[in-house]
Amino acid sequence: MTPHRTRRRLRAGVAIAATAVVVAGGAAPALADPAHGSPGQGPGQHGVDRQRIAGLVARMTVPEKFGMLGGTTGANGAAGALPGVPRLGVPGLDMADGPSGVRAAEPATALPAPIALGATFDPDAAGAYGGVLGQEADALGMEVLLGPMMNLVRTPYAGRNFETLSEDPLVTAELAAPQVSGIQDHGVIATAKHFAANNQELGRQGIDVHVDDKTLHETEFAGFEAVVQAGIGAVMCSYNQVDSVQACENAELLTEVLREDWGFDGFVMTDWGAFHGAGALEAGLDVEMPRPTAAFTDLNRDANGDGVVDTADLTPSVAAALDRAVTGVLTAMAEVGLLDDSGEQPARATEANAAVARQVATDGAVLLQNDGTLPLGEDDLEGVALVGPTAQTPLIGGGGSARVTPDTGAVDSTVEVLRARGADVRWATGEDLEGVLVPGSALSTGAPVDATYTAPVTQTVTVTAPTAGAYSFHVQTTGPGVRMDVEGVPGTDGEASTQRRFGAAGGSLIPTADGRTNDTYTVDLAAGQQVTLTLSCDSAQAGPVAACQPTVEQPLALRLAWTTPELRAQRIAEAAAAAAAARTAVVFAYNEGTEGEDRPSLGLPGFQDEVIAAVAAANPHTVVVLNTGDPVLMPWLDDVRAVLQMWYPGQEGAEATVDLLTGVADPGGKLPETYPAAEDATPVSDPANYPGLDTDADPVPDVQTYTEGTDVGYRWYAATGTEPLFAFGHGLSYTSFDYSGLEVRRRHDGLRVSFTVQNTGDVAGSEVPQVYLGRGSAVDTPTVQLAGFDRVTLEPGEEARVTVEVDERLLSVWDAATDQWVRAPGTRPLSVGAASDDLRLTGSITVR
Ligand code: BGC
Repeated sequence: MTPHRTRRRLRAGVAIAATAVVVAGGAAPALADPAHGSPGQGPGQHGVDRQRIAGLVARMTVPEKFGMLGGTTGANGAAGALPGVPRLGVPGLDMADGPSGVRAAEPATALPAPIALGATFDPDAAGAYGGVLGQEADALGMEVLLGPMMNLVRTPYAGRNFETLSEDPLVTAELAAPQVSGIQDHGVIATAKHFAANNQELGRQGIDVHVDDKTLHETEFAGFEAVVQAGIGAVMCSYNQVDSVQACENAELLTEVLREDWGFDGFVMTDWGAFHGAGALEAGLDVEMPRPTAAFTDLNRDANGDGVVDTADLTPSVAAALDRAVTGVLTAMAEVGLLDDSGEQPARATEANAAVARQVATDGAVLLQNDGTLPLGEDDLEGVALVGPTAQTPLIGGGGSARVTPDTGAVDSTVEVLRARGADVRWATGEDLEGVLVPGSALSTGAPVDATYTAPVTQTVTVTAPTAGAYSFHVQTTGPGVRMDVEGVPGTDGEASTQRRFGAAGGSLIPTADGRTNDTYTVDLAAGQQVTLTLSCDSAQAGPVAACQPTVEQPLALRLAWTTPELRAQRIAEAAAAAAAARTAVVFAYNEGTEGEDRPSLGLPGFQDEVIAAVAAANPHTVVVLNTGDPVLMPWLDDVRAVLQMWYPGQEGAEATVDLLTGVADPGGKLPETYPAAEDATPVSDPANYPGLDTDADPVPDVQTYTEGTDVGYRWYAATGTEPLFAFGHGLSYTSFDYSGLEVRRRHDGLRVSFTVQNTGDVAGSEVPQVYLGRGSAVDTPTVQLAGFDRVTLEPGEEARVTVEVDERLLSVWDAATDQWVRAPGTRPLSVGAASDDLRLTGSITVR
């Protein structure tokens, strides 16, 4: 990043041209409402009694101030807490994770993954989604919700892609802002995370991200800036470095951009353990989570030896930073009413919240391909084969700190829901994640591993493969779980683990039929070849894995199962037979996105591609339902009739899936990210760009450069002429829409783009019309850029005049030389359509 200069607001001209419009003159480009322009006077703060806050700060001792800024243990399963200052009536703050539902010790509504919300392209849905999070955080005793996550989907491999909204800055900004309002309207502080450039999990603990200022401002920052404008109370700084400075001690990010430029006056907290030194306070960090370390508390001491810890022990700069930090926490609290909170907790609005979960799951579903096979008709339902583990046991959300535990009985199986609607359903697992107990005859111990332990245990067994092929070993546990190290086959050593990670259950997100936590490791073996499995549960675990301590009350039940090559072939044959006997076959395919790791490939995990190919060969009417958090490759695409992306659909996923499969609802979602056609055809195919270069002894990337610049996501595909599998914004419907009558008018602060959309089909449906700007002669603008969108629901034959306001900011670029937004003069194509590759109306604008 370049050093900051004093900011000036530029006045520039913009001109528009046949549908060509000339835009000229007008105010300086600004996303912010001018009323909120001056630093420290952000929006949502009008009710804040600043004198009262100043009075509280003045009455606090230095130890009380520091005490407010270091994490502590919270109640009800909180991820962390701040203690408050009871002497002055300042309450503590319990914090819960919550991008897709509040994660507490008690159950909560499991919402669809945020990427499904992104696919709705619907700010109203985002407001309702935030409302559920706020309502339940309040009901569960949480004052701070650790979400939304707003890092852009930059690489299709990133483990947390499901937790974020889109690869597009505008979609992210437009959906994150109402979500934050929805949360904070319930008196709960929302947290924008992870600031900034935390776009992958590989090497996230400190990778040095090199990214230029223009790219940050025009892409990654957009969501964060929008939620600051929406009055968000907290920001979480990320684990990584940005241009060789740790994000959590980066003055340019935390002070200049966040506070001085955007007017943020809440508080910045570290990601869990992302504190690097006491200098962070002066750089703009306010709160250290989850615990204060010696480095921070070191400032909180009697430096001058006069027997008392007070301001005289601090440098003027640290004293000022300390007051700023405490003021930030109090301001965020005051903004949502927490300084005067009655402490009363409402009950969870379980039914209403479940209804939002179902609506978002439905509206965010994306119909990627359909030749008319969907929706299924009554005839189809007379004999339908459902295949795949997630048809029976829905994959409701991703892993890591975003994992939510829904109410007992809240999650239905899609197989059962379809049956309850009168369909004749046969289910086959296809991909066998459970296998059968490894027989004693294959084990060095001579007896199966199937026992219960009440104390730590380590057990090593050698398995001998009876035949050649791929063996999947499944470790299936209750209680604290185990780690299974697989050794003895050079080049394929690895591990599976069911131990708790990131404070959540570990292992696969899909439990066994008898409710055990399960995890699998697959290895190719020759006949007679041996592999050694070490199953260990010990109390000396490190990192995100919780110590393993089985007890009499919380025993460890441990079972070792396998799927042999023969069993796998049998399961695939069973799936094909079920499909052959049915009118229609629906294969549910999944992947398991999680914090802490990226995907090794874009393929479906395991043997799912083989299952789909076998089912499609057995039944010409095969449909695929995807439960993935991000794009997957689809080698079978030409052999199946329809593909429906349901994402991780939350606790109401089965109902939503059945509504969509049967045409009770129309799938109106659009892709908020591009689906690549091949591993080597993505914006991050260069290792220096992703995952980054490894410059030291450990096998983790240390430094990377965002060489795509502002051409993130679909922009890169357009810039390089690379064909995706499915384009950004793509999504079909059970009806069809016509576009006509494009008009583009200049507004004082941007453009007003109007056009007519008509439902020309036989059923009601939703459409997301999208407005794109090309680069044309406007230098330094992205190759193509989403400039606005709307979502309309129309009855058959109905038409609507849609008006999309394009903000001046979208006609501007970040000028790194002067550190400000400037209009980008030139003539640019403007198009309107149903997807970035399905543009129906074209015009142009001239910006002067
Ligand atoms: C994650 C954060 C999360 C925090 C607390 C970290 O590992 O990166 O997103 O809020 O843990 O659970």
